[in-house]
Amino acid sequence: MRKRALITGITGQDGSYLAEHLLDQGYEVVGMLRRSSTLNFERIDHIQDRLTLVSGDLLDEVSLIGLLKEHRPTEVYNLAAQSFVQTSWGQPVLTGETTALGVTRLLDAIRMVDPEIRFYQASSSEMFGKVHEVPQRETTPFYPRSPYGVAKVYGHWITVNYRESYGLHASSGMLFNHESPRRGLEFVTRKVTHAVARIASGIDDKLALGNLDAQRDWGYAADYVRAMWLMLQQDNADDYVVATGETHSVRELCEAAFGHAGLDWQEHVVVDERFLRPAEVDLLVGDPTKAREVLGWEREVDFAGLVAMMVDADRALLRERLR
Ligand code: NAP
Ligand code: GDD
Repeated sequence: MRKRALITGITGQDGSYLAEHLLDQGYEVVGMLRRSSTLNFERIDHIQDRLTLVSGDLLDEVSLIGLLKEHRPTEVYNLAAQSFVQTSWGQPVLTGETTALGVTRLLDAIRMVDPEIRFYQASSSEMFGKVHEVPQRETTPFYPRSPYGVAKVYGHWITVNYRESYGLHASSGMLFNHESPRRGLEFVTRKVTHAVARIASGIDDKLALGNLDAQRDWGYAADYVRAMWLMLQQDNADDYVVATGETHSVRELCEAAFGHAGLDWQEHVVVDERFLRPAEVDLLVGDPTKAREVLGWEREVDFAGLVAMMVDADRALLRERLR
């Protein structure tokens, strides 16, 4: 029988790469969209005719029950969330409703409609926050530093709890930052590569950023969605860190991205307090040993390759727009 997967967050960065991966594996892919006044299919335009797009919202349990009953997926990947850390201070309740309680709504819908469904929860390295150990692994205690991080800790533990309480095949991927040319413009990697393209073509001259000292373990999104899929192919559900094992500062990101376009970042980057956060996560670096040993997962793209790919893509996109 052909496997059928439901992806929440299909219009997001990871949703689009995961949909491509599952289609390549021969799955029927059902993507859940929330209602909006304009279509936002930018990332899934190229595969839209191969997807079944259905309407639903993590804020509305009835919509989740209805679409599970109607489409009968064998696997559910919960990628939908209010995912921008900075916004979570301005909208902490919405973030909690979506990123935390949304997970319970979906798990409960699965429990009621078909407890045989395999479930993936998009957990996050933000849960480690003010880190207790370096590098961070599956057993590292959590210390979230934002309403988003707190919501993800709830989502993580409710996934573990439904696995232990009801025997659901529910896994949680503790994914470190992963980026791509499809990354939202508000996240720092894309903000930088998009600015590099504009500065290199003479449209802008300055880029305002916040904390240049923050360090992140940045990988490539297309590599990371393979780990999500591998988790649901195991006999037993479990939790895994997915990371590169390398960390770089925002300053190093600027140096690499501007350097790739033959520019000196110090001539263009300015620090603007508006982009500083009330509480910061200073250093993230993950230990992906378990994912490598149990899932056989390996990343293919390194930091330099990722930055070069994103700068090249933003420059090509800008050339296209200016034509
Ligand atoms: P993203 O690009 O921001 O996509 C988020 C998706 O969630 C979008 O499709 C969005 O729909 C959808 N969404 C938001 N609120 C919703 C709601 N109430 N009901 C239904 N859908 C809703 O995020 P991403 O980078 O692909 O990340 C995917 C998941 O992994 C998220 O849960 C994120 O928190 C988590 N994560 C990401 C990273 C990373 O570095 N990328 C690392 C760890 C964990 P619209 O298009 O309509 O806004
Ligand atoms: N966004 C942004 N904009 N970040 C900046 C800026 C800026 O102008 N200047 C410095 N930074 C710093 C932030 O303070 C943070 O320390 C770091 O760059 C990365 O910020 P983001 O790219 O916004 O990502 P994030 O680490 O906060 O969150 C992302 O990764 C998490 C996994 O660790 C998101 O994708 C989350 O959804 C994800 O869970």
